[in-house]
Amino acid sequence: MPTRPYVIDEMISAKQIAARIEELSREIAHEFSDTDKLVVVGLLRGSFVFIADLVRELDLAVEVDFLEASSYGNAMESSREVKILKDLRGAIEGRDVLVVEDIVDTGHTLFHVIGLLKARKPRKLRTIALLDKPSRREAPIKADWTGFEIPDEFVVGYGIDFAQRNRNLPFIGKVRFTDDG
Ligand code: PRP
Repeated sequence: MPTRPYVIDEMISAKQIAARIEELSREIAHEFSDTDKLVVVGLLRGSFVFIADLVRELDLAVEVDFLEASSYGNAMESSREVKILKDLRGAIEGRDVLVVEDIVDTGHTLFHVIGLLKARKPRKLRTIALLDKPSRREAPIKADWTGFEIPDEFVVGYGIDFAQRNRNLPFIGKVRFTDDG
């Protein structure tokens, strides 16, 4: 539970997100136009809202699968260990795969997950992140599609939590602490 009082200021509206997803879906459908079935992989838990909206905009035959990764260690250190807590249900060898992430921050999570999935020999592997904080990057990775590049702000909503809260906000908001602490 959050221990300091805070308010949330809207940063990216639900309408802006929906418009961007429409654009991205068209690009993704074009990229995978030769695919008979795309496997869309959501990284739990933060991507659950984004993937739900994204797949409903995609004019393609899709399968949906999920993977849960957790990164451990001191966030101030550049080497972090990423552990798989829940693996995919299905095999991806020879398949076309789109990995869906809510936010790329240091990049360790996506970097590790991509390495793991590449080793399974998919035909094509692409990545999409709703948000990107390039100023925080430590691992050499960039998603193939990004919804919005943002500055190093503490963001919540649309799947992203603050101490497991606020994932259900329909927009991306910025946390502002009100105790000046
Ligand atoms: C968050 C977010 C990304 C990851 C990005 O996940 O959902 O998966 O961190 O950070 P990175 O680029 O520095 O690796 P978190 O571990 O908080 O789990 P959650 O998705 O369950 O909220």
